[in-house]
This record gives sequence, structure tokens and C-alpha cells, in this order.
Amino acid sequence: MNRAEQRVAVSLGARSYEIVIKSGLMGELAMRLRAITSTSHIGIVTDRHVAKHYLQAVLTQCQRAGYHPVPIILPPGEKNKTLATVGKILDVLAKERFERKSLLIALGGGVVGDLTGFAAAIYQRGIPFVQVPTTLVAQVDSSVGGKTGVDHRLGKNLIGAFHQPKAVWIDPMNLHTLPKREWIAGLAEVIKYGIIADRSFFAYLERTMPSLLKLDSQAVMQIIKRSCEIKAQVVAEDEQESDRRRILNYGHTIGHALEALGGYRSLIHGEAVGIGLVLEADLARHQGYCDAGTVERIRSLVLAAGLSDRPTSRSAEKVWTAMQHDKKAKGGKVRMVLPTGPGCVDIFQDIGQQEVCES
Ligand code: NAD
Ligand code: GLY
Repeated sequence: MNRAEQRVAVSLGARSYEIVIKSGLMGELAMRLRAITSTSHIGIVTDRHVAKHYLQAVLTQCQRAGYHPVPIILPPGEKNKTLATVGKILDVLAKERFERKSLLIALGGGVVGDLTGFAAAIYQRGIPFVQVPTTLVAQVDSSVGGKTGVDHRLGKNLIGAFHQPKAVWIDPMNLHTLPKREWIAGLAEVIKYGIIADRSFFAYLERTMPSLLKLDSQAVMQIIKRSCEIKAQVVAEDEQESDRRRILNYGHTIGHALEALGGYRSLIHGEAVGIGLVLEADLARHQGYCDAGTVERIRSLVLAAGLSDRPTSRSAEKVWTAMQHDKKAKGGKVRMVLPTGPGCVDIFQDIGQQEVCES
């Protein structure tokens, strides 16, 4: 086990915080809480799957350290990322008399993190929360940057708020209990960082994918750290996504459409993003923004990770129609982030149906 601790700063003025990555960190949560809060009133929000592996140990640890942890166990899965589930969290907080200084811990994947962060953003107009992400998607992406929220039946992540956590504490050991399908899905977000921001990280992933698939601890630590560094830098430059932060959406415009077309059941988030990375690169090549070699490197890396590079049976027209529900769609055109080479992307404002359907 790699016991060294890595730290990444997220620099946002008064809302700055640190990401700490350390194997075994899960056993130190209570000790770390002391440094960031004076309250003893802690809500631990998690889902049933994560609770089975980790909740009891976290509760015991917090109780021993003098905290009064209140567990809030949610049903797992994207279908529960709804306002109704946030309502359930808020019911517990009100019933247990949580106050402005009380603190929530989001112990779980991106679904738990987005729900907990949103509940923390709106309860008593905002209370502090800490992210303890337990999936690869959450460790490299969703726990960092303060986007919180829920889905609406007319669109994913339509309701939400920016609310930064007080800290992000990552224990890569959590990934050992993660189902393999979820682990592979997370690799799509990691590959995304190589394409959007770091050519040499992309090449590192090409070399290291076989070790990563065996959960090699050094390689896992390296990809979490580098992904968090890239995300932290982008968020620090553009916290509320008025410009630069949009690059993080590469692969997601088509990815979200595919997720929605599958009713959020056939493809999980990272799997849809993996296909989106390849299809959006192909679109870029059709438009002359990048060369065929770049697309083939992206496709090969996606396939090497065990992800798919194409949807099973979706027509381009259906994908286009689903893309119209995207928050980034306007007047029959979609704003898309497209690669111009490994490590570089650009934002294109006016991608229309013809471009998508021909690619
Ligand atoms: P998830 O939270 O649904 O977790 C996936 C599954 O793994 C769930 O069944 C969960 O119970 C289980 N699980 C979690 N940790 C585990 C562990 N250590 N051991 C065993 N099982 C475990 O999915 P996800 O992929 O983590 O997150 C996807 C969500 O994140 C989507 O809703 C997406 O929109 C959101 N997201 C948000 C942001 C953001 O910036 N806020 C960024 C990316 C993704
Ligand atoms: N995952 C996209 C973002 O955080 O902006």
C-alpha cells in the first residue's frame, strides 16, 4: 500500500480548500474533522452499497472522537438523484435540528456527492460539507469543483447550485470494493483530462493502462492526483463555468444524450462519456479540427480501458434530438468542446444537426 499523502490545492479565495489523497485515509476521518470544524453535529450521507462496506467503521470512529454522527442512508443509483431524495436528506437535518455550523459528509460516489452538496447548499441557506468520494468518477471529478444538484425528468443535472466543499478526502483503497464496471467507467473521465489538458498525461495513460486495470497502487495514485490537479486548475480559473471550465464537458454532450436515450439504465455515466470521447473526436475530424491519428489514439485508449467506442443501436438523429435537452443547446445549435490534438481542445459554438449526423 502506498501510504504517502498527496495534496492538491483548489484556489478559490475564501472558498479555497485542499484535496488530500492517501491510502488508508478512511481511518483518519475523525482526526481530520478536528481541523475543519468545531461542531460535533455531523451528518454522514451515503448510499446502501457504500454503507455496507464503510459506514459502521466511520460511525464508530466519529463516536469515539466525540462526534454525534447521524447516518443518512439513501437508495443507490442515478434514478435516485432527484429533488425527492434531497427532500429526504432535508427532513432528517430538520428533525435532528442541524444548524448552520453542522457539517455533512458525502460518503459515496458522484450521486451521493451531488445530492449531499445540494442539500448542504440549500439547508439553512448553506451549511458546510466534506466530500469523501468512493468511486473513481467521484475521486477524479465530481467531488472537486462545487457543482451540486439533481436530475429533472426533462434533463440531467437541471437543478443545482455551486457550493464548494470544505475539503475533499480521497482514499484510493475504497476502489478495491468498487464493481469492475464502475472502475472502468471512471477511466473515461481520467482519459478526458489527458485529451483536454495534458498531452504527456495522455501518453502516460497509453503506457500505463495495463497496470491501471490491475489497480496498481502507484499508477492509481498518479492518475487521481494528476486528474485532481487538472480539475482544480480549471475550476480555479473559472469557478462558475462562464468559459474555460466548459472544457471539462468534452465527451459529455454526446455522452449525456446517450445516457438519457438509455433511460439512465443501459449505460452508466462514465461508459456514456467513453463513447462520447470517441464520437466527439470523430466529429472534430469531420469538421477538419483534428487529424485521423488523434481520433485513433483516443479510440485505442478508450478501448484499451475496456470501454466501448460506439453506442449499440442509436441512430445519429436520435442522439441529436436527445442533445437538444442539453443545457448547452440553443436554437437548434449545440456548443461543443472538441479536440484539436492530444492535450488540446477548443470550444465550438455552432454545431448543428448536419455536423452531428454526418460524422
Ligand atoms: P454512483 O454514485 O452512482 O456510484 C456508482 C455505484 O457504485 C453505486 O451503485 C454506488 O452505490 C457504488 N459504490 C460507490 N462507491 C463504492 C465502493 N467504494 N465500493 C462499492 N460500491 C461503491 O456513480 P458515480 O459514477 O460515482 O457518479 C456519477 C454521478 O456523478 C452522475 O450523477 C454524474 O452526473 C455525477 N457527476 C457530477 C460531477 C460534478 O462535477 N458534480 C462530475 C462528474 C459526474
Ligand atoms: N464535470 C464537469 C465540471 O465539473 O465542470
